[in-house]
Amino acid sequence: MNAKPNIAIVGATGAVGIEMIQTLEKRKFPTGQLTLLASARSAGKTLPFRGQPVTVRELKADSFKDVDIALFSAGGDISREFAPKAVQAGCVVVDNSSAFRMDNAVPLVVPEINAADIKLHKGIIANPNCTTAITLMALYPLHKAFGVRRIFASTYQAVSGTGAMAIQELEQQVRQIVAGEPVTRKVYPHQIAFNVLPQVDVFLSNGYTKEEAKMENEGRKIMHHPAFRASVTCVRVPVYRAHSVAVSAEFEKPVSLEAARAALAVAPGLDVVDNPAKQEYPLPLRATGKYNCQVGRLRLDCALDNGLCFWVAGDQLLKGAALNAVQIAEELLKL
Ligand SMILES: NC(=O)c1ccc[n+]([C@@H]2O[C@H](COP(=O)([O-])OP(=O)(O)OC[C@H]3O[C@@H](n4cnc5c(N)ncnc54)[C@H](OP(=O)(O)O)[C@@H]3O)[C@@H](O)[C@H]2O)c1
Repeated sequence: MNAKPNIAIVGATGAVGIEMIQTLEKRKFPTGQLTLLASARSAGKTLPFRGQPVTVRELKADSFKDVDIALFSAGGDISREFAPKAVQAGCVVVDNSSAFRMDNAVPLVVPEINAADIKLHKGIIANPNCTTAITLMALYPLHKAFGVRRIFASTYQAVSGTGAMAIQELEQQVRQIVAGEPVTRKVYPHQIAFNVLPQVDVFLSNGYTKEEAKMENEGRKIMHHPAFRASVTCVRVPVYRAHSVAVSAEFEKPVSLEAARAALAVAPGLDVVDNPAKQEYPLPLRATGKYNCQVGRLRLDCALDNGLCFWVAGDQLLKGAALNAVQIAEELLKL
C-alpha cells in the first residue's frame, strides 16, 4: 500500500460520509488525493477538507482510477454495484453497508477486536453494523475474561443511524409539535418525535428485525465465536446522535464486578463511566463526537447465573461507521 494513499469516499455528502472526511482530517490520515463521490444530485457541491474546498463528483464506473482506498457509505445497492468495479480498478474497498458483511471471503472488522483479519482481504473489507460494533466494544473484553455464552439486549438507536433525512425529520416534527401543527413524516412509519419505535429495519419471518439479527450473526464472525447467541430488541429513539444498548450477558465462567471492571478498564477504545453515587453513567449526549465508547451501570445480573448487566453508549457515526472505517484504512497502511 502506498504510504500516502489516494482516498475516495462514496456517499461523501451523507451523514457517515461527512464524518469520514472529518475523521481523515482529524486523525491526520496521510491522504494523497481525496475524491468525493455521491449521486448526480450532489455533483458540483463542495465540501471542506484540510481548509480547502473539494468538489463532489457523480459516482461512475470509472471513478476509481488512481484511487488506492475507497470508503463506501452509500447503501448496499451502490456497494454491490460499484465495490467490485473499484476492486477491479486496483482499490481496496472498506464498505459500510451490509452488502458483504456475511460473505466468507470478506473480513468483517472492528480493529480493537480482530484487526488481524484484515490481511485476509481479497479487495473488500466490511465495517460492521453500528449497534453491533458499539456493543462488542464492551462485550469483547468481557468475553476474553469470562467467555460469553449469550446476551439479551435492547437498543436505543439515534435517528442519525438512518441518515441525513432522518435527522431533518426529527427536527421538523419537534418544530411542528411545538407550533401545534400537524406532524408530517417521510422516513419512519410513525412519528419519531416524543415517541419510541420498536422497529429498526425490516421484519424477518421469525419476528425479529434484520437489525436485531445482525448482533448474533456479525458478533459470531467478529469475535470468532460461532456459538455466540444474542436476543435483541432494536428501538429507534428521538436522539440525534449516539446509540445506547442495555445488555444482560451470560458467561461460561463466574463473574465478579471487580474482575469485570478490571477487564473493561484496560480495553482499547472504551471508557468506564460508572459512578452511580454521583449519577454518572454513559449518555448519548456525552458519547456524541467521541471516538471512545462508554460503558457503565455495571451490576451482577440477578436473573442469570454468571451474568453481568451493563449499559454501553457510542457515537454510531464514528465508532459505528466513519472512525471504524478510517481505523481499518490505518491498519491497511501497516500491512
Ligand atoms: N448513519 C449511520 O449511523 C450508519 C452507521 C453504519 C453504517 N451506515 C451505512 O452507511 C451508508 C450510508 O448511510 P448514511 O447514514 O450516511 O446515509 P445518508 O445520510 O442518507 O447518505 C447517503 C449517501 O449516499 C449517496 N447516494 C445515494 N444514492 C446514490 C447514488 N445513486 N450514487 C451515488 N451516491 C449515492 C448520497 O448522495 P446524495 O447526497 O447525492 O444523495 C449520500 O452521500 C448506509 O449503507 C448505511 O447503512 C450508516
